[in-house]
Amino acid sequence: MFDIVRLGPGDRGLILTMQERIYAALPEKTVFERSSGEFIEYCLDGGGLCYASLRHGVPVGYRMVYFPRGREFNLAKEVPLPSHEWDRVAHWDTTAVQPEWRGHGLGGLMNARALADLAGTGTRHVFATSSPCNPYGVKPLVTAGLRPVRLVRKFGGHLRFLLYRPFPAGWGADSPRGEEKAVALSAITELEAAFRDGWVGAEVVIDEAGARLRMRRAPLPF
Ligand SMILES: CC(C)(COP(=O)(O)OP(=O)(O)OC[C@H]1O[C@@H](n2cnc3c(N)ncnc32)[C@H](O)[C@@H]1OP(=O)(O)O)[C@@H](O)C(=O)NCCC(=O)NCCS
Repeated sequence: MFDIVRLGPGDRGLILTMQERIYAALPEKTVFERSSGEFIEYCLDGGGLCYASLRHGVPVGYRMVYFPRGREFNLAKEVPLPSHEWDRVAHWDTTAVQPEWRGHGLGGLMNARALADLAGTGTRHVFATSSPCNPYGVKPLVTAGLRPVRLVRKFGGHLRFLLYRPFPAGWGADSPRGEEKAVALSAITELEAAFRDGWVGAEVVIDEAGARLRMRRAPLPF
C-alpha cells in the first residue's frame, strides 16, 4: 500500500505543498521548523537527500536530509567534533507525515531508506534536532540509531534535543549491566544535568504515564 521513493529536482512543489498542509494542521507549531523553497530545492539538487511516502501513488509524507558541507549552519559545531570532520556530516532535517497516516511506520521507513542511501556519500556523522515537546518526533530518530546528547536552543530560541549517531557503525551495543535511568521529556533541568554528567538517551518510551527518555552513560565517540 505504501512506497518510499527518492525525490529529485522538480519536486520542490510536492514537498512545499505537503509541508504547508501538515503545518497548518499542527496544534503546536513551535515543534516544527518549516523549510524555505530555496532550501528544499538545494537538498533536491544534490545538497541532500529527499524522500516521499506514497499511498497508492499519492504523497502522504516526506523526509529531508541535508549535507551542510562548507555551509555556515552545521550542527557539528555544537559538540567538539574536529572541524576537519565537518564535511562528513549529514543533518536529519525535516520530516512530516499527514496526521491520518501517522503511527503506520512511515517515519521509520523513510529514515531506514535514507540511512541506506548514505552509504557512498562519505558521511561519518549524523546529527538532528527535535523538540522535547514532540515525543513522536524524537522516537523515530532514536529508533534510527540517533541518541539525544544535549539540549540546545535553535530556530529563534526554541529548545531542541541535539541527536547524534556515528555512521555507518552506530553507537554500538550498550553494556547489559550498565547504569540506566529514565527521565521525563518534560524534565528539562534534569535532562540538562544528565547530559552534562555524560548520560545520553537510548530509547523513548511513550505510555499512559507520558514520554520518558531511557538514559545510559556513554561518551561521545570523538
Ligand atoms: C514525526 C512524524 C513524521 C513521525 O512519523 P510517523 O510515520 O508517525 O512515525 P512512525 O509511525 O515511524 O512512528 C514511530 C513510533 O512512534 C509511534 N507513533 C507515532 N505516532 C503515533 C501516534 N499518533 N499514536 C501512537 N503512536 C505513534 C509509532 O507507533 C512508532 O512506535 P514504535 O517504533 O514503537 O512502533 C509524525 O509524527 C509527524 O508528521 N509529526 C508532525 C511533524 C513533526 O513533528 N515532524 C518532526 C519535526 S521535523
